[in-house]
Amino acid sequence: MNQHNNAADPAAITIDNLGKSYQLGRERLPVLCGLSLTVNAGEMVVIMGPSGSGKTTLLNCISAIDTPQTGSVCIAGQAVDYGSERSRTLLRRHQVGMVFQFFNLIPTLTVRENIRLPFLISGEQSENSQIKVENILTHVGMSHRAGHYPQQLSGGEMQLTSIARALVHQPCVLLADEPTGNVNPNVGNRILNILRDRAKQQGTGILMVTHSPEHAAWADRICFLKEGAIADELQQNGDRHAVAAIYDHLLKLDI
Ligand SMILES: Nc1ncnc2c1ncn2[C@@H]1O[C@H](COP(=O)(O)OP(=O)(O)O)[C@@H](O)[C@H]1O
Ligand SMILES: [Mg+2]
Repeated sequence: MNQHNNAADPAAITIDNLGKSYQLGRERLPVLCGLSLTVNAGEMVVIMGPSGSGKTTLLNCISAIDTPQTGSVCIAGQAVDYGSERSRTLLRRHQVGMVFQFFNLIPTLTVRENIRLPFLISGEQSENSQIKVENILTHVGMSHRAGHYPQQLSGGEMQLTSIARALVHQPCVLLADEPTGNVNPNVGNRILNILRDRAKQQGTGILMVTHSPEHAAWADRICFLKEGAIADELQQNGDRHAVAAIYDHLLKLDI
């Protein structure tokens, strides 16, 4: 058990009654409608849902890349202030790490420089931050590629780099949007191991989107997103071999 899991600690993410729609010409496209969800510190939660059901929109609302029309999001007990550009920036700089399906690495920076980016942006140049970069390079198995550029890497190596970048500043929340969608199964398992370890060892609250029942099976809990809200939940307890119940839920919910 990690020390972040005691009852006095606020949840990593608390989402209450979130509503988000997009204006498309004269039409309003509702995407999220009254969505509520909690991710505890140290918990790994997976979101599954049909394409276009709003999974990415949800993550973007949590990281304040996007702004919901109704409801609230709290990160580590503090409400996200969508009206303040500065507090949105600080949220992404210090509290939330993000991993994307297509890596989003900066092509003109090396692996090491990409991973150092959160510190470069926040102006932190301490020796301690350099040690953190080297430690996480080793942790994700990318030390031997530290001086290489993204275009010299495989998809899996790019994703391991982007995970290191998302975790190096030790955010209390990690949002991962289909992080295993474009990597081979071996790297997929390495990524899932890194994420699970992070949740358990450091109490990071992890919210991951995946279409793969095999990958979802690593989660503590699976939430099924349908018609704008969480339609059902499955307590998975990280049992990687219990995949049948996940398929049952997907079938039952027509996902
Ligand atoms: N910026 C936007 N403007 C208009 N519609 C959008 C925008 N972003 C997403 N959508 C629409 O919102 C819905 C949900 O999108 P998204 O969150 O990307 O779904 P998912 O990640 O579950 O596939 C889709 O119908 C998509 O076309
Ligand atoms: Mg998406």
